[in-house]
Amino acid sequence: MFSLQNKKAVVTGGGSGIGKAISALFAKQGAEVHIIELTEESAKDAVAEITAAGGKVFSHACNVANQKEIIATFEKIGNIQILVNNAGIAHVGKVDNTAEEDFDRIMNVNVKGVYNCLHGAIPHLRASGGGVILNMASIAAWVGIPDRFAYSTAKGAVMAMTLSVAKDYMAENIRCNSISPARVHTPFVDGFISKNYPGKEAEMFEKLSKTQPIGRMAKPDEVAALALFLCSEESGFVTGCDYPLDGGFIKLNN
Ligand SMILES: NC(=O)c1ccc[n+]([C@@H]2O[C@H](COP(=O)([O-])OP(=O)(O)OC[C@H]3O[C@@H](n4cnc5c(N)ncnc54)[C@H](O)[C@@H]3O)[C@@H](O)[C@H]2O)c1
Repeated sequence: MFSLQNKKAVVTGGGSGIGKAISALFAKQGAEVHIIELTEESAKDAVAEITAAGGKVFSHACNVANQKEIIATFEKIGNIQILVNNAGIAHVGKVDNTAEEDFDRIMNVNVKGVYNCLHGAIPHLRASGGGVILNMASIAAWVGIPDRFAYSTAKGAVMAMTLSVAKDYMAENIRCNSISPARVHTPFVDGFISKNYPGKEAEMFEKLSKTQPIGRMAKPDEVAALALFLCSEESGFVTGCDYPLDGGFIKLNN
């Protein structure tokens, strides 16, 4: 079960955290993995680890927010069967203290970046006779996390894009789903703790762990396991769905 033999998969932001875990698992299951990362350097460790484990992986330095670069990168990669829109960035703030340039930056990467990759990938999924798309949303889209205005807005758009694409391409044998993780322990979380709570890192880590009723953050491998199910043929009946992976955050937090 869950074989990805003879599949070509693109994973954006595959150099770190959740994307790296997804890239490693997909390669282990037999996929040829193409990582799209901001720089060659940011994909270096993931490529080295996956190759050392016997996986087939390539990296492409490209900003998901740049449509021209993205279209050229998908042209170079050719026909694909799987796209994972995972690249994303964080921001802390309420609407009245979110600066316009920060809002634009978050929307450019977390929303336009997903649009660009969908736009660039559809012709190559179509040419393969169909395939599957997985978008990384967040519980922020479900519950509006405090102090995350721009980020929650962007992830709400990711969930809506998932539905729109699932509907528009169903007849072309392209499925589209999303995952909404609560906190996952990745460099994304460590970076945002050290930037926003300097000197209080351990305390904040503990606090953020406890916001999940299960008492801890998720591991990137746990997100990758759900991603594998959703991108494998075993989930062939699943489309237009968002899957919370949240340690009880949405329904048990009261
Ligand atoms: N970690 C969490 O708690 C958490 C929770 C819910 C959702 N998510 C989402 O999961 C996804 C991955 O998060 P992570 O925690 O693994 O983050 P991460 O920061 O560890 O990794 C993200 C990767 O995306 C790349 N990236 C960023 N901007 C890019 C761009 N413009 N073009 C190409 N690549 C770019 C970065 O270089 C990085 O390697 C994000 O979309 C994030 O919003 C994370």
